Amino acid sequence: MKKLRSALKTKFRNSIKIVGLGKYLPEKVLTNFDLEKMVDTSDEWITTRTGIKERRIAEGESASDLGTKASLIALKRAGLKPQDIELIIVATVTPDYQFPSTACCIQKNLGAKKAVSLDIGGACAGYVYALSLAWALVGGGFYKNALLVGSEVLSTITDWSDRSTCILFGDGAGASVVVPAKSEAGMLSSYLGGDGNFGDFLILPAGGSRLPASKDTVKNRLHYIKMQGNEVFKIAVRVMVECAQKALKKCGLRSEDADLLIPHQANLRIIRAVAKRLNLEDKVFVNIHKYGNMSSASSAVGLCEAYEEGRIKKGDIVVLDAFGGGLVWGACVIKWI
Ligand code: COA
Repeated sequence: MKKLRSALKTKFRNSIKIVGLGKYLPEKVLTNFDLEKMVDTSDEWITTRTGIKERRIAEGESASDLGTKASLIALKRAGLKPQDIELIIVATVTPDYQFPSTACCIQKNLGAKKAVSLDIGGACAGYVYALSLAWALVGGGFYKNALLVGSEVLSTITDWSDRSTCILFGDGAGASVVVPAKSEAGMLSSYLGGDGNFGDFLILPAGGSRLPASKDTVKNRLHYIKMQGNEVFKIAVRVMVECAQKALKKCGLRSEDADLLIPHQANLRIIRAVAKRLNLEDKVFVNIHKYGNMSSASSAVGLCEAYEEGRIKKGDIVVLDAFGGGLVWGACVIKWI
């Protein structure tokens, strides 16, 4: 018994490493100037208050379509075939259906017959949650590898007549393949948290079992994102700073040890405030101007794009830091192998 316990403990301590990254952004670009024609807003207001200049919009493509395209790139770069994948975790708030899961749709699209497939919540922190879960399951020896996907078609749950939210969101998908890491590097730590008491600050009220779809819910536009922006803003800055600090502390590091901070891309003012408090202003990755907030896809695309741009090198300490509806938050520290 003692032997088994220590064997399990040793196995569970195994790290994971990311061996393939992919992203897919739909072609259609919706600029702030386009939005000026749709609601009472201006490019100047959106740019100053959010940092967003444009976002992508999926036309006739679902979360699984976007996720499949990102996954094919990640798999190719990982040198793995879909049939090799044992686990698929998809983080999304815009699933193709309530069921089957979007992970099952992606499994079907890829022909990843062997893969156990599941969706998780986690909203904008969904990719950080997926990575942490994969660490437990792949690092723990339950699966040999995992495909992690953050994919969102937020344009389908955005109220295009509400100027306080419609300027923020965009569509996209990011994917990564993880395998066990034999060295001490790879995933170094994860810190996750949340507080359901703040649930009403960022919510899609109707369409679930609490408020099933009806003529009234549709008439009252309750199938769209509702948000108390100011409240979310204040909490976001505080928890993102705390999350990054706690995740770094868990692996014996401090913020000055980080080479790159990839924060959730919700608002440039949030990103700047967090980076400033962490003293990482020169080491922060930003792509919000191109894509807006893509919820779970933001961190996944951010990591992929940072790597493609050569901002991540072997040995670098990368911090992923996110928050979202729930409210939930989380950070992961990775030593790149
Ligand atoms: N264009 C022009 N004016 C707008 C506008 C728009 N798109 N949206 C709101 N306004 C107006 C408001 O009506 C308000 O006018 P008033 O002063 O006459 O009442 C004014 O601008 C200020 O609104 P406010 O909501 O206080 O602005 P803000 O500086 O807080 O910015 C957000 C709003 C949404 C950009 C900001 O609160 C935010 O980003 N919050 C965090 C949201 C977030 O991160 N969500 C995702 C979490 S994963």
